[in-house]
Amino acid sequence: MEKEKIKALYFDKITKLNEYNKAYYDQDNPVISDYKYDGLKIEILNLEKKYKFLKSKLSPIKTIGYKPSGKFKKIKHKIPMLSLSNAFSEKNVVDFLKKIKNFLKLNNDHEIEIIAEPKIDGISASLHYINGQLKLGLSRGDGITGEDITSNLKTIRNIPIKLKGTKFPAYIELRGEVYISTKDFKNISHKFANPRNAAGGSLRQKDSLETKKIPLQFVPYGFGFVKEKLFKTQSEFLELLKKWGFKVGQHINVFNNIEDLIKNYIDLENKRSSLEYDVDGIVYKINDLNFQKRLGYISNSPRWAIAHKFSSTKAISKILNIEIKVGRTGALTPVAKLQPVNVGGVIISNATLHNEDEIIRKDIREGDIATIQRAGDVIPQIISVNINKRTSKSKKFVFPHKCPSCNSKVVKEFNSNTKKKDAVTRCPDPNYSCHAILKEKLKHFASKDALNIEGLGKKVVDNFWNKKLIKYSYDIFNLDLSILKKFDGWGEKSIINLKNSINKSKKISLDRFIFSIGIRHIGQENAKVLAKYFLNVQKFFEICKKINTDNQNHINELYTIDGIGFSQIDSLKKFFLNKQNIIVVSNLINLLDIENYKSLVKKTPLSGKSIMFTGTFENNSRSELKVIAENLGAKILSSISKKTNFLAVGSQKSTTKKINEAKSLNIKILTEKDWNKIINK
Ligand code: IVH
Repeated sequence: MEKEKIKALYFDKITKLNEYNKAYYDQDNPVISDYKYDGLKIEILNLEKKYKFLKSKLSPIKTIGYKPSGKFKKIKHKIPMLSLSNAFSEKNVVDFLKKIKNFLKLNNDHEIEIIAEPKIDGISASLHYINGQLKLGLSRGDGITGEDITSNLKTIRNIPIKLKGTKFPAYIELRGEVYISTKDFKNISHKFANPRNAAGGSLRQKDSLETKKIPLQFVPYGFGFVKEKLFKTQSEFLELLKKWGFKVGQHINVFNNIEDLIKNYIDLENKRSSLEYDVDGIVYKINDLNFQKRLGYISNSPRWAIAHKFSSTKAISKILNIEIKVGRTGALTPVAKLQPVNVGGVIISNATLHNEDEIIRKDIREGDIATIQRAGDVIPQIISVNINKRTSKSKKFVFPHKCPSCNSKVVKEFNSNTKKKDAVTRCPDPNYSCHAILKEKLKHFASKDALNIEGLGKKVVDNFWNKKLIKYSYDIFNLDLSILKKFDGWGEKSIINLKNSINKSKKISLDRFIFSIGIRHIGQENAKVLAKYFLNVQKFFEICKKINTDNQNHINELYTIDGIGFSQIDSLKKFFLNKQNIIVVSNLINLLDIENYKSLVKKTPLSGKSIMFTGTFENNSRSELKVIAENLGAKILSSISKKTNFLAVGSQKSTTKKINEAKSLNIKILTEKDWNKIINK
């Protein structure tokens, strides 16, 4: 066998072993038997023995990243540990600041302080200090629930067990990054693929004496729950951390304009390789904590921060072939299958090609030698292909005209917003029976943000689908799990675990449920908007089923909901036009315990009331007004109907048309003064 082929075979086995490790240790869900697992490991070791050129940091003798961690106790975070949205260009940073200024109703030339902190590429952790004593240390987990890794965190030398001084809140939860310095990593680099894996693996050791052997460090960058806030800005907070005995990150600066932010970015990127630790970008945060509070969160990340990523790691590999993946909404995504290649410590064997236009633009072909880039957690991409390395056999890639799964003629839809044809090719799934789509819907249904069924990951869904155990989401709850015993890799323990997590998933909030059904254009945000509006699942289902009747009132009602527009309504309409979808939803309603939407806010004059804003308000932008009203328990409408309770009218630019319309429907009008009274209560 030639060298390249041996390498490909070897990396393929390593990738598989890694997946099995992950399934076993991370997801508690072994996918192959111990016997087969050991066999694969021996095959890898034999290849290494035979071919000396095979050297990988991911070799099974070297990795201890997935060493058995045992079970850590799971604990819910008092405040979720969210993630950051990314900026990849100066324009993204400019837009980030523009949006913030619009939200806060500040002029574009208003100077606002931004703190720039290097983004250390490690593992995040949270530390609970009660009366200055470290009482609890958690991993991030899925952001909602973490693992109790207190004893491991206590082995880290620069985590104080007791805060210094006396000026600290009675209860504060600090958040920061656990990492290994580049210098220390050199000594253990034979054991791990990269410093991040090393930190993650060591933190999850069951035996904290093992953790202690690895030179982990901690740098704090934020806080979650805090009893008394003794600081007004992020920079004041960082100063206090120093007084409490922490080592705070270096190269942290406060700026008030884009030019300086970008200068700092270029400067730090140039210094990147000489820094004490791996840094994959810079986090920009609005320094003023009061502004941060007003800006709040959107979906899973704060509005007040962004990670400006450094340029990514690149590598060269061969495109073995191009596969077409059909997603749950029918989108056909081309994926380049690559000869496995190590890109900055991670073995990559797939890269997304986005859509047909991208393939044409870059003239990407099967068999091409391509430059691949990977930026942190972002899906690997192909930057370019080397035309000079093509053989005479090379042929242009022909994008399929039919769905590879159900053979339906594919379409490119007309986008009514852009007035152009979409770049995405779609399987229209005319009979709602495309197997690829149904399978992807199942994966979505079981995923973290939907039902969150632990142990029913993508691979397991594939497995169950192939065995014809499940077709529609409700099948999951009628599954006779005892038959799994017959299958490889399923022991009593994993069956019980799956059974428990399926049962646990039955209790679900209305917004998660709406999201989990997988209706196109109804993502997490829109699902929340609908849940807030309908409050219970019966109402939601009743109205959705009626959208297709001749009665235009139901459509008009949906149009009044702020955030719900033509695409969403059209998609709801198409979804509920299908009988099978109605069966799925009604079965799920019977099987699940769907909680009514609960507003977390105390009773306020706006609780449960529908409100529409018109005109310009003096102190707050329209976006902020909506957030404030929502936080006071109100539903936001984008047009007036009989059901509207209030029309809030700004003191500038308000139209008399809206006011007259409201008056004719007997809707209470709130002047800006009335509104201010309500929010200041
Ligand atoms: S602030 C709401 N600041 O980056 C999230 N994160 O992609 C606020 N990170 O999970 C995070 N350095 O592990 C923040 N100076 C810094 C950071 C930082 C590294 C990590 C952190 C977080 C991830 C977000």
